[in-house]
Amino acid sequence: MKKLFALALVIALMAGGAQAQKRDNRKSGKTIPSSMVDGKGNKTFGNSVKAPEIRQLPEPVIGMDMPFKMALEQRRTIRTIREDELPIDLISSLLWSAYGINRAEESRRVVPSAVNVQEFDVYLFDRQGVYLYDAQKKALIMVAEGDYRKVISSQPFFEKAPVSIVLVANYDRMKIFKDKSVRDFYAAVDCGYISQNIYLFSASAKLATVACGGINHDELGKLLRITNGKAMLAHPVGFAEE
Ligand SMILES: Cc1cc2nc3c(=O)[nH]c(=O)nc-3n(C[C@H](O)[C@H](O)[C@H](O)COP(=O)(O)O)c2cc1C
Repeated sequence: MKKLFALALVIALMAGGAQAQKRDNRKSGKTIPSSMVDGKGNKTFGNSVKAPEIRQLPEPVIGMDMPFKMALEQRRTIRTIREDELPIDLISSLLWSAYGINRAEESRRVVPSAVNVQEFDVYLFDRQGVYLYDAQKKALIMVAEGDYRKVISSQPFFEKAPVSIVLVANYDRMKIFKDKSVRDFYAAVDCGYISQNIYLFSASAKLATVACGGINHDELGKLLRITNGKAMLAHPVGFAEE
């Protein structure tokens, strides 16, 4: 009888420990986005123990010194993009110009958005993987490992450009707009601001870019696990061919 009681006590203690572990995990906030996939499209995070790779970006300070009038004069579409890698400092400035936070105390951005819903998710594609830009932390969070640049579009500059930015409207953040046509309209307008900032930064930093609406919406939707939203526009970015 005593042995039976001891066994029951051990089982009860073990169950309690497991519950406490679960509570601790919730408290630490270590939830991993379910959208994370490996180079073959398999889910590697969420149910598995592998943690997402996070790349801290340097402060965005370079490439933004061109006088505004000159940047407007220089803004143009350039499709002849070299394969050479872009330095991480330039990538950091590019992402900050596109969608960075310029008023940290209010979490407001360099671009406006209707009713400040900030519905865009900005992804960076490079030879190593696909990353979500975390503007708050100035970091890149890997969401897929591997070279997916060709998935964006069959237009040839995506294969060559060392990085491409994909702008995804997340309609979960637009529920305030009841009408789908209103959501579509505001998402398109907000997308334009980001795209123009990418153009102006590229002019200032003497980089080549092109706004592209001709992208593989469905394949991007699958890769980025877009459930309520749309990949709207993509920008390959790199040094221009001479
Ligand atoms: C919404 C939008 C979608 C575009 N889609 C493409 C595209 O899929 N492929 C492409 O080569 N250029 C695309 N462009 C670039 C335009 O062709 C280019 O901006 C236009 O010819 C004017 O040239 P500029 O930007 O040098 O003034 C797009 C531009 C915009 C604004």
